[in-house]
Amino acid sequence: MFQLIGNPASPFVRKVRVLVHEAGLEGEIEEVTVTTSPIAPAGEVTSAHALRKIPALIRPEGCTLYDSRVITRFLDAHSGAGLYPQSHLWETLTLEATGDGIMEAAVLMVYEGRFRPEDKQDHGWLDAQWGKVENALDALTARWMSHLAGPLDAGVIAIGCALGYLDFRHPAREWRKGRDGLDDWYAVFSERPAMQATRPV
Ligand code: BEZ
Repeated sequence: MFQLIGNPASPFVRKVRVLVHEAGLEGEIEEVTVTTSPIAPAGEVTSAHALRKIPALIRPEGCTLYDSRVITRFLDAHSGAGLYPQSHLWETLTLEATGDGIMEAAVLMVYEGRFRPEDKQDHGWLDAQWGKVENALDALTARWMSHLAGPLDAGVIAIGCALGYLDFRHPAREWRKGRDGLDDWYAVFSERPAMQATRPV
């Protein structure tokens, strides 16, 4: 049994959980839910992840794995699900990096609001983070729609989880505006059982 240290609110954890469902690995993963933050890391996180982040995957044999991209790659190899297809490996990894980058900017924005007093929040910095998200969404619209419409892979999962997190934490930013194609794609993708089973509340 593997132990997944995480919290369902984290989009990086959700990406791993979606891949677990898609790869049919639910029976091999024990989810250990922790309440953690950069300011107050949980004990389990401090011992499992050198940088005190989630997710981490504790294995019965071998080192504990992090970060999310290492975990998804490992679980894919373990299951043989083929979510990093050799024929599109570099596209898949680049798309996953794009999803992770959207998540990272969006999480940093949440932290700015959560951990800094209102009068100390840097709105220029917040806007710059959102600018990164918008640039990435525009790149998806311009260059990645045919890949998103193709077979499921780890990059596609990362984009689905990134868009899900924007809905969850940044609904007022209205990422769908002017991006009908991406909106339509996500409307279908978000209905997948793996996405429904991992929806943050
Ligand atoms: C969140 O609540 O948005 C969150 C929780 C854990 C990690 C990242 C984000």
